[in-house]
Amino acid sequence: MSEPSYKTMGQQFGRRSWAEPWKIKMIEPIHMTTRAERERAIVDAGYNTFLLRSEDVYIDLLTDSGTSAMSDRQWAGIMLGDEAYAGSRNFYHLEEAVRTFYGYKHVVPTHQGRGAEHLISQAEIRAGQFVPGNMYFTTTRLHQELAGGTFVDVIIDEAHDPQNQHPFKGDVDLEKLQRLIDEKGAENIAYVSLAGTVNMAGGQPVSMANVKALRALCDRHGIKIYLDATRLAENAYFIQLREDGYAQKSIAEIVLEFCSYTDGAWMSAKKDHLVNIGGWLAVNDADLFDRLRNLVVVYEGLHTYGGMAGRDMEALAIGIAESMDDAHIRARVEQVRYLGTLLLDWEVPIVEPVGGHAIFLDAKAFYPHIPQDQFPAQVLTAELYLDSGIRGMERGVVSAGRDPKTGDHRYPKLELTRLAIPRRVYTQAHMDVVAESIKEVYEQREKTRGLKMVYEPAQLRFFQARFEPA
Ligand SMILES: Cc1ncc(COP(=O)(O)O)c(C=O)c1O
Repeated sequence: MSEPSYKTMGQQFGRRSWAEPWKIKMIEPIHMTTRAERERAIVDAGYNTFLLRSEDVYIDLLTDSGTSAMSDRQWAGIMLGDEAYAGSRNFYHLEEAVRTFYGYKHVVPTHQGRGAEHLISQAEIRAGQFVPGNMYFTTTRLHQELAGGTFVDVIIDEAHDPQNQHPFKGDVDLEKLQRLIDEKGAENIAYVSLAGTVNMAGGQPVSMANVKALRALCDRHGIKIYLDATRLAENAYFIQLREDGYAQKSIAEIVLEFCSYTDGAWMSAKKDHLVNIGGWLAVNDADLFDRLRNLVVVYEGLHTYGGMAGRDMEALAIGIAESMDDAHIRARVEQVRYLGTLLLDWEVPIVEPVGGHAIFLDAKAFYPHIPQDQFPAQVLTAELYLDSGIRGMERGVVSAGRDPKTGDHRYPKLELTRLAIPRRVYTQAHMDVVAESIKEVYEQREKTRGLKMVYEPAQLRFFQARFEPA
């Protein structure tokens, strides 16, 4: 018998196939637009995919934030909302879930991640202090700057190289951090802002060895570590897969150990936690908790709802437990890797190794002929939409914004288009459609031209900026 020419996914990788640990109970129809409709839509949106109407989008990979499919249990939880202004039972479920899975003592609910970033930045940064971190994130850095801090990137150099194969490109460079402490003095460091995984580096993980060593260094100088835990369950999967001694540990055990080396965390629950809205901030220090509870009532809502409805907190509490399921995390991260593997096989330039939540296309490598001040990643994002109605997001010079001191564009080394995969939403067939569209855009790359910015908001410009062909 001749060798069969079609192979299942598992066979292609020399193993038995496995599938998502769920089945679909409800569907949401989507429809494909024509090229002419998309040409009109992208001009109306000023070549900014944030300004498109979602009904003009076919496969929506703008973000993995708030776009997950909730489970039947989470939807059942929505019906159990206790909408009391104070002391909602759903808050206590949320508090218990955070304590159980993350191990922190005190929990402050917030409406989403940036609400928590605002509170921790206001509470823990004095004007003039420095905030070292493993690469910036847009909203995180902005809140640190609004509190009077200056963010300093102390991620390892490998993170800035899209082809570097380092297994933990999210790691902090401890020598860079030590130099900053020596130069500025420990009293002028507000805290270390640590994220796992690192969104802007391509969803790259931090190793357990690194956070352990970071804890030791910070202890020598009396510096706190606060963690952006937004995608920590995905980070834990990479530790399980790649770090010695963790293959037999569960995602839940790894998350708990990781958090034990930090002093607190903030969370955009719209990612790992499989809800459409929500967030929290959790710390161990009782005095800090007291200050945060005072702040939350000013900016978010009472300390037992923080801007969320009771039903949202219930869905979130259930989502936290679901997010720690090993089979779920494997299916989630491996779906992203499936898309990345196709692209790598076709020699399309993407950030390697493939990260946890998204594929990041290397726009500089797509368009070496487009200068960075003509926004190559913005161009690539628009081209992909034009080809097939797939929506991604610019993560390059537009997202990096302007230097508050000089007013110049900040030119990040990484000029990327991000295609973030929502959790439990799309199938392998959707990934095939996405891969083929990217290939087509790549093949057309030499004909593609740059953009100029014709409207620029003062803060977080990538959300609302408008462009025209250069
Ligand atoms: C790493 C990271 N931190 C913080 C945030 C901010 O969270 P939110 O969008 O819920 O305000 C995000 C959101 O995209 C994120 O990816």
